[in-house]
Amino acid sequence: MSEFTIRPAVLDDAPQAELLLAELGYPIGDPGARARLELLLSARRVHTRVAAEAGSLLGLVSAQFVEMFAYRLIFVTVLVVKREARRRGVGAALMAAMDDFGRENGCEQTMGVVRSDLPENHRFFKGAGYTQAGIRFLRALPLSGGDV
Ligand SMILES: CC(C)(COP(=O)(O)OP(=O)(O)OC[C@H]1O[C@@H](n2cnc3c(N)ncnc32)[C@H](O)[C@@H]1OP(=O)(O)O)[C@@H](O)C(=O)NCCC(=O)NCCS
Repeated sequence: MSEFTIRPAVLDDAPQAELLLAELGYPIGDPGARARLELLLSARRVHTRVAAEAGSLLGLVSAQFVEMFAYRLIFVTVLVVKREARRRGVGAALMAAMDDFGRENGCEQTMGVVRSDLPENHRFFKGAGYTQAGIRFLRALPLSGGDV
């Protein structure tokens, strides 16, 4: 089995990244979703890395800095590994790369968010040394235009 490498994402990754995000339930071919993906891949304060093997993307992670009152953390907003490539250490390697990136940029913590109804993903985070902290509250905001 060949080895995968972790590298920063580039815009040319968009078609394969779109397939990966489809595994998370984001629709393929939707122009709005495509625009958001391109934003994710090119935004200055968002850092996205991919796991690649022989020209194929196996996984993607994206994170951004959050400035807290007392410290700065790196918030992982997307993590996905292609179904056929799971349990090979790709997810762990992507998260380790984000830890390094955060550490190099003065972050004291890495934060990930997982759906509460997916216990296997909780096992992934707990296995990687994360502890559950707090409960997330969300409220939908009516859209009032603006850029993606
Ligand atoms: C969660 C996810 C990223 C894990 O990726 P992965 O490449 O399979 O993870 P790894 O191979 O690095 O797993 C590392 C360890 O995590 C744990 N783990 C990972 N997936 C697990 C599962 N389905 N059930 C139980 N433990 C799991 C194991 O301890 C594993 O080590 P092991 O294989 O030696 O036992 C992947 O399952 C995924 O993309 N899920 C859907 C998207 C998602 O929910 N993302 C997270 C929030 S955005």
